[in-house]
Amino acid sequence: MSKPRILVTGGTGYIGSHTTVELINAGYDVVIFDNLSNSNIEVLDGIEAITGVRPAFIKGDVNDIATLDCLFQAYPGIEGIINFAASKAVGESVQKPLLYYRNNLNSLMNLLEMVEKYQVKGFVFSSSCTVYGEPDVNPVTEESPIKPATSPYGNTKQISEEIITDFIHSGANFHAIILRYFNPVGAHPSALIGELPIGVPQNLIPYLTQTAIGIRKELSVFGDDYDTPDGSCIRDFINVVDLAKAHVIAVKRMIEGKSADKIEIFNLGTGNGVSVLELINTFESATGVKVPHRITGRREGDIEKVWANPERANKVLGWTAETPLADTMRNAWKWQQHLAEKK
Ligand code: WQD
Repeated sequence: MSKPRILVTGGTGYIGSHTTVELINAGYDVVIFDNLSNSNIEVLDGIEAITGVRPAFIKGDVNDIATLDCLFQAYPGIEGIINFAASKAVGESVQKPLLYYRNNLNSLMNLLEMVEKYQVKGFVFSSSCTVYGEPDVNPVTEESPIKPATSPYGNTKQISEEIITDFIHSGANFHAIILRYFNPVGAHPSALIGELPIGVPQNLIPYLTQTAIGIRKELSVFGDDYDTPDGSCIRDFINVVDLAKAHVIAVKRMIEGKSADKIEIFNLGTGNGVSVLELINTFESATGVKVPHRITGRREGDIEKVWANPERANKVLGWTAETPLADTMRNAWKWQQHLAEKK
């Protein structure tokens, strides 16, 4: 029996590459479509080294609907799409809102047109806890209020969810699963794939590991005057492989038509709130490596505290984020050391 074919847009990116590995391991035939604007073609070598399979790769932009249509002609029978391809830097989105609205929303609408034209059964959308803004109550459930976005990036996630919902309510015949990620961190335990920030990392973990290895002089902790036990912000740091596995379950659920609902939303988090300073301590004790850091001013737009109630994903998907944070920190460090050896 042929393997179900899944299109992964943005599949050479951080979460896309880890999800591709888990899809291949689960017996799916993966086609990656990526414009390499924020990733590196060498990621395919890592995926092949881990799985023994080199996924089909087409370089292209999801905003180019003609190229996208050619892809569906060249690879018939695509049963599911996981859409990672989007711009994702919160700060950059404030500086370049039109780029973010055009790229993230236009590409989504192109893909949804392909879903209808080629009768794709399932569509997984990569959303974010950023849609909750600064929650009134933690942990947040999928019913927690959607707050006004604090950045164009976050707004594109909220609008994207509405576009998908409206399209399904218009009668489009497919299943959608919206996955709201909390803070994905870490790397594959093989250290053959991981986060590949281009330029100065905006996210905490890549900056932390680059500081630990000496690329950066010290890590700035953006504020310790928040209303939290140690004053630093609190997040729900979820292991990227655990996150990837949730996508495989979501694809299977839709292809096999397991859900009566045409659209489902799940929070993907551990359910544990961890502060920035706690995370630094966890990294140092897990690896034995010190991270020079200093408290600086707050970063504009930062949420004070947000962590997930993942019960719906636990119960409905049968999925739980199970990797201990110390193991995740060790894997993040192994990946940073692998990058240093490659230089
Ligand atoms: C985490 C915490 C910072 C860097 C955003 C998006 C989310 C997702 C991940 C794309 C914050 C602190 C950070 C540093 C620090 N988007 N920090 N020093 O902002 O929670 O989430 O990125 O993948 O949708 O909202 O992630 O890693 O930038 O910050 O103190 O050098 O670490 O203040 O409290 P964030 P982050």
